Amino acid sequence: QFMDELMGIRQKERQLAQQFNIKRCIIVSGDSDRQLKVIGTMGEEVNQLLQQLLPEGQNIVAVMGGHTMAHVANHLTDKLARKRDLLFVPARGGVGESVEIQANTIASQMAQHTGGKFRSLFVPEQVSERTYKPLLQEPSIQEVLAIIGRANVVVHSIGDAIAMAHRRNMSEDQIKVLRGRKAIGEAFGYFFDQDGNVVYRIPRIGLQIGALADREIILAVAGGASKATAIEAYMTNIAPKHTCLITDEGAANLILKK
Ligand code: G3H
Repeated sequence: QFMDELMGIRQKERQLAQQFNIKRCIIVSGDSDRQLKVIGTMGEEVNQLLQQLLPEGQNIVAVMGGHTMAHVANHLTDKLARKRDLLFVPARGGVGESVEIQANTIASQMAQHTGGKFRSLFVPEQVSERTYKPLLQEPSIQEVLAIIGRANVVVHSIGDAIAMAHRRNMSEDQIKVLRGRKAIGEAFGYFFDQDGNVVYRIPRIGLQIGALADREIILAVAGGASKATAIEAYMTNIAPKHTCLITDEGAANLILKK
């Protein structure tokens, strides 16, 4: 029975990769909406995939924040650093989120688990333009932005639009706008609709979606039935085609059912 199940999952991986026209899709069993440990299993898969894909020598890994990414960080191992120099950086500047799921924290956790290095980007989100602009001129910030610009690897998650809007303390009015524009998903601070049109963007510095395609290795990690539509919209319309998707059956079954 276990083998049957595994064969079923391998088949679904092929179907989903074909549907999104991407080269690689990994599906872990379970639904992370129901069982937290499923996110951990996705993290283990990310670790293995990075082990396969990262070239020897210097690697700069730009990472986003969120709960999924926090679990991924906990499942990276020091095997990754063998024959490699790993430098983790947050892909984008500060998010008004709790410390443990901020991209800065994820980068430092990943460095800790792998024995790599990390750099932080200290740019708060809620500052006026007057404060923000001179901040960007700071050499220490410019230095980190330059490192982000050279990242050869990006690891990120995909979120449900309204859940992310609440988490980022967006006002009821802003959320109404998002609903009106039919936002269903969010990645990199970009909110998008079913067809992948970006309908709202949280202004933030660092890696922008337009610069994503140049990256050698991109891993998108997101699971749970509640994220199925967001994952589908992002992977179909926005993700560069060399993105690898790591998801779970909760999301995959819903996407494949349609
Ligand atoms: O951009 C997407 C979010 O970072 C996903 O956050 O992993 O906490 O659902 P989450």
